[in-house]
Formats: sequence, C-alpha cells, structure tokens
Amino acid sequence: MIKIEKVENNIDLITIKNDELEVVVSNYGCTLVKVLMKDQAGNVDDVVLGYDDFKSYQTLDAYIGALVGRVANRIKKGTFELNSQTYHLPINNGPNSLHGGIKGFSYQVFDYQVLDETSVEFHYVSKDGEEGYPGELDFKAIYSLEGDTLTMHYHATTSKDTLINITNHSYFNLSGKKENVYQHLLKVHSDCFACIDPDGLPTGEIKDVKGTSFDFNEFAYIGDRVDNDDEQLQLGKGFDHPMIFNTKENQVELVHEKTGRKLTVSTTLPQAQIYTANYLDGRLGKYGQHYNARDAICIETQNMPDAIHLEENPSTILKAGDTYDEKTSYKFEVIKISRENLEIFKYTNFFRLKNKVKEF
Ligand code: BGC
Repeated sequence: MIKIEKVENNIDLITIKNDELEVVVSNYGCTLVKVLMKDQAGNVDDVVLGYDDFKSYQTLDAYIGALVGRVANRIKKGTFELNSQTYHLPINNGPNSLHGGIKGFSYQVFDYQVLDETSVEFHYVSKDGEEGYPGELDFKAIYSLEGDTLTMHYHATTSKDTLINITNHSYFNLSGKKENVYQHLLKVHSDCFACIDPDGLPTGEIKDVKGTSFDFNEFAYIGDRVDNDDEQLQLGKGFDHPMIFNTKENQVELVHEKTGRKLTVSTTLPQAQIYTANYLDGRLGKYGQHYNARDAICIETQNMPDAIHLEENPSTILKAGDTYDEKTSYKFEVIKISRENLEIFKYTNFFRLKNKVKEF
C-alpha cells in the first residue's frame, strides 16, 4: 500500500507499507525518513534516525537518511582531473569536498512517480557543471519494498564523462534509539579497510583487518571495539572507514539482541563506509530524542571514496554512453536469539573475556 502526504510545495512524504514493514521516504533528497518494524514481542519501533521538523533535513548537515551524490564521501582538496581537464568542487569539509558539495543530491527535490503498490521511482537531472561536476547526469533511484526488504536501485547516464558514487546515508539503531549502538552486534564480510587521515580522507593505505578492531568477520559488539586504543579509530573518532568486501558476499549484518531485530545490507557495490555517527552532538531528532555520537550506525555502500585520486582505473568514473547501475537492499527481520545461537555468541563471549570488556 502506498500513501502520499504533502510537506510543502513539491515535497512529499511517501509511505510504503505491507504486513512486515512500513517505510516513509521523501522526494526531497530521496530521504529515508522512517522504518517501522516489530521486535520479537510485537512492539513497533522506528529503526532509523530522522527529524520531525522537515526543515531540519533541508538545513542541517549529517545527511540523515539522505541519498548522497553525485559523489559520496570526500574528494581531496575538492579538485580532480578528468580527460586532461581540471575541475573544482565546493570545499565543505576541512580542506576537502564532501558528499556531492554544498547542494548535492541530498538537498535536491526529485520528481517521482509511484510505479505500483510497492515501489516509487525518483528522477533528477543534474545540470552540466552542477556543484562543479562535468556532464548532465540523468539519475533515477527506484525504492521498492518486498516483504521485509527495502531495495534501492540506482541508474544514471551522462552527457560527458563524469564522476558518480551514490550511497544512502541512513543512521540505523535497531533498539528504536532506546539506547546507543554499543550493544549492537556487527558483522562485515571484509578482510581489509582503507586508512584515513585526520580529515577523514582515505590515505591510500589498505590494511588487513586481522588482529585489529576492524575485524568483524564474526559478529562483535560495536561497544567492544569503537573506543579501542587504535590510531585509526582515534583519527576517525570511532569507525568512519571504508571496509572493502571480500569477493564472497557484499554484506553487512547488524543484530540487536534485546529486540531480536536484524538488518542485513546486501549490495552490488564493493565496499561500505562504516560510520558510528561520531559527529552527532545533541541535535533534536524524531520523537523529541536528541542524537549523540554512537546513537546509530551508517552502512554506506559505495565505491572507494576519492577513487579518482587513488585508483589506477577509478571505479567512480562514468563515461558518456555507459550506464551506472547499482543496487543495495536492506532486509529488516526479527530473529530468534538464544544461547544456542552459537554463530553469534561463541565469538562475542570469547572476545569479551579475552579483552575483559566492561558491561554497558
Ligand atoms: C563521513 C563522515 C561524516 C558523515 C556526515 C560520513 O559518510 O564519512 O566523516 O561526518 O558522513 O557527513
């Protein structure tokens, strides 16, 4: 079932609902505004951060729930060369350009059409030169809800060679923000991660996760890791790092034991920026709640940030005539959590004992 509600002029809230899930999205920034799901006792909570006052999406940073583009994350010093031409982007984060510039896709109004009872297509034509990027980019995002899974399918074509790296910047908290994410269990199918500099820009160094706080190949509590004495965690003020998927499965899993809620993010993209909301500092969000660091986790599936400066054949170049076509899905389910669920408990208990970790 789809329901539409007007926010202002050409901005709407679109609710897609079935027996398992209710999601609310907006054509402003293709923002994911709400995800309402049950827990194992049948209680419904909203498991993404957001704002009650829609103006906050339009005026504040942090990209809560937004689609980010043309290029997610940072581009070094806001400049790059493509086909022997130098391009300049707005500098909006230390010395770098972040998340598509000052008025990137997160702050644009998209046209949209309801495709059927389960899906909506958002459309936006980004002008040649918009926010400094070359080429007129014709962009489409289809959001569809099938059972417990929300899928975001992105397509783009361009009139000139350009850069593109789309992500969704939702802040997940499976407790319904009744607590921070320290007691969320995280599993990332990743053998290595990209190191960052003090401004959050990847340095080009790729590190093996083995023996580090970044090894989430088995479920581990975020709270057991995020404040560890680790140079990279200190530089990021927590996790704010590209984790590169091993080729087997491009997946991130998140479990909240108390409620039995589980999120599985699966993607065609090669990595995810794992970000523990390190820069939230008390702003007012939905339901009168205030948002602080560690109150959520972002799982931003994408190509390598700043790929244009780091890769030999940058994965973020879209050539005129080619099509950008990527998909990320978010499965929200309730699982049975018991001491017998060894996959989860075997490792985490071992890790907690080994490190004499505190209770939260
Ligand atoms: C970045 C963070 C940034 C946050 C909000 C994340 O994708 O990696 O460094 O603070 O977005 O803008």
